[in-house]
Amino acid sequence: MIIESESPSNIALVKYWGKHGLQLPLNPSVSFTLEKAKSITKVEWVDSETFGFNFSFEGGAKPSFEPKLQKFFERISELAPELEHAHLKIDSSNTFPHSSGIASSASAFSALAIAIAEGLRVKRGEQDIDITLASKMARLGSGSACRSVFPKLGFWGEHKDVKGSSNHFAIDVSAYMHPVFQTYRDTILLVDEGVKSVSSTAGHALMEKHVFRKNRIDQAFDNAQQMMNILSKGELNDFVDLVEREALTLHALMMSAQQPYLLMRPGTVAIIEEVRAFRRDTETPVCFTLDAGANVHLLYPENVEQKVNTWVNEVLSAYCNKRYLCDQVGNGPRWKSSV
Ligand code: DP6
Repeated sequence: MIIESESPSNIALVKYWGKHGLQLPLNPSVSFTLEKAKSITKVEWVDSETFGFNFSFEGGAKPSFEPKLQKFFERISELAPELEHAHLKIDSSNTFPHSSGIASSASAFSALAIAIAEGLRVKRGEQDIDITLASKMARLGSGSACRSVFPKLGFWGEHKDVKGSSNHFAIDVSAYMHPVFQTYRDTILLVDEGVKSVSSTAGHALMEKHVFRKNRIDQAFDNAQQMMNILSKGELNDFVDLVEREALTLHALMMSAQQPYLLMRPGTVAIIEEVRAFRRDTETPVCFTLDAGANVHLLYPENVEQKVNTWVNEVLSAYCNKRYLCDQVGNGPRWKSSV
């Protein structure tokens, strides 16, 4: 059987930061699913006596990815017992440059989990793919990946005010989205294309004994609920405030950890200042967010795209060596299989 899948990356509005047990989040998170920054994965699934896999990235061997994949397959073995008798030949590629500093684990594990869920569908003779199962498996590869299996807006983490939410998988909350957010734009300014000095996984671990741990968890529960409210009502000013607060809190948590570290670069800070000045001077509802790195995501509505593009070209591109990607909220993953 051959399965082809593609899945986009996502950008969190309320950040997942800290985990426990087997990839369970300390707090709920919500993200826009992107459109263009995606991973494309092909899996050849062959029946075999014992489980095995080969992995190649953009056509070449990638031994450095293998331990992470090995761990992923161990973790999903209970959810996908059929894999005990499968050999998988996996080839993956990204639409964005590998060295761009974009977290590729979300799109990569989402695409792979979807391919496996599709394989399981075929093996089990089922009509529809079990997308919740795909999300569960994706989470076991990389937490944020579980939100990428859904179009537009994914919510992960149990929250009493969000029906159906769970720590084990993300849910599709795009039905609650005001139209203005459904075509939201994301320009990703590549401030630093190197490997991050501290990985997300190490950053999550530092939340365990963080002096602000409890306050952060309480705040994130609150922010997740507020964000859902803002997203459904289409309140752009509140969106700007909350998204930027979340981004700065994430980095403040890194800077105030027991082993403090700093992922923002001078360009990151300069862009943040420019965004605030531009918003004040032009009343354009553009805001910034950051993932666990130096790059800046600019989020803004479709109707100001032209204006933002001109400003990015004329002003912001100087801070990122003219390296940026234009993305937007997207329709989620795709997959197909042939036997
Ligand atoms: C800051 O999902 O990359 O982007 O579960 O260890 O693979 P692992 O971490 P990862 O962490 C993402 C952190 C974040 C916030 C977010 O996407 O919610």
